Amino acid sequence: MIELHNVTVTYQKDAPALNGINLKIPKGDFVFLTGASGAGKSTLLRLIYAAVTPTRGHVVVDGQNVTRMTRHQIPFLRRNIGVVFQDFKLLQSRSVYDNVAITLEVLGWEKKDIGKKVYHILKQLGIEHKLDASPQRLSGGEQQRVALARALVNEPRILLADEPTGNLDDHNKDQILRIFKEANIRGTTVVIASHDKRVVHYSHNRIVHLDKGSIKEAHDVTPQA
Ligand SMILES: Nc1ncnc2c1ncn2[C@@H]1O[C@H](COP(=O)(O)OP(=O)(O)OP(=O)(O)O)[C@@H](O)[C@H]1O
Ligand SMILES: [Mg+2]
Repeated sequence: MIELHNVTVTYQKDAPALNGINLKIPKGDFVFLTGASGAGKSTLLRLIYAAVTPTRGHVVVDGQNVTRMTRHQIPFLRRNIGVVFQDFKLLQSRSVYDNVAITLEVLGWEKKDIGKKVYHILKQLGIEHKLDASPQRLSGGEQQRVALARALVNEPRILLADEPTGNLDDHNKDQILRIFKEANIRGTTVVIASHDKRVVHYSHNRIVHLDKGSIKEAHDVTPQA
């Protein structure tokens, strides 16, 4: 369960990026976060993995008050959270394999198990043939899939994805959404920030709409025939 209690985030002296947000995302939910550029989507995701501290209010993830966590506690929170960043944040000097394996290395997995698991997820995402490539040699869509593989490889309890389909064509978008769905069926709570109508109306999912830092609506859409 992810909970935001009366959360305001003000960067420097600007108008608040988020303003008095109250939101509950139950375990196992699949939520789309929508809203115009600058509405606060990335800020809301950053709150959940403790990359931004609220100016007011507090954030609770799986019963733990994230706002009060010490610097030593934050890595333990992040072990359970896969993040696909808006700008990917891949390590350019390492191979595709290394970029994905790192998630499991940090968790102390055995080398042979890492090999199997990394190959499996890369295959699922259709980029196993790029295993040895450097991310800078990949297309935007391929880099996006590597970022997704890195976030999903340890089957995290929570998956946060910031515009995860921005560089993909419709076929690849549908494939990525299927992968999110499968992770969700296996129990991962999924929160996706997206502008993309095709993505947001993908299926019967909850939509949380942000408008200039406030929640405007939160509803379930009826699945399209
Ligand atoms: N590090 C920062 N320092 C100062 N202001 C910031 C910072 N990050 C975001 N902001 C501001 O906070 C507001 C919300 O930004 P945020 O990145 O959360 O929006 P977004 O909905 O993700 O937009 P986009 O769709 O363009 O990614 C914007 O006005 C932005 O300029
Ligand atoms: Mg953003």
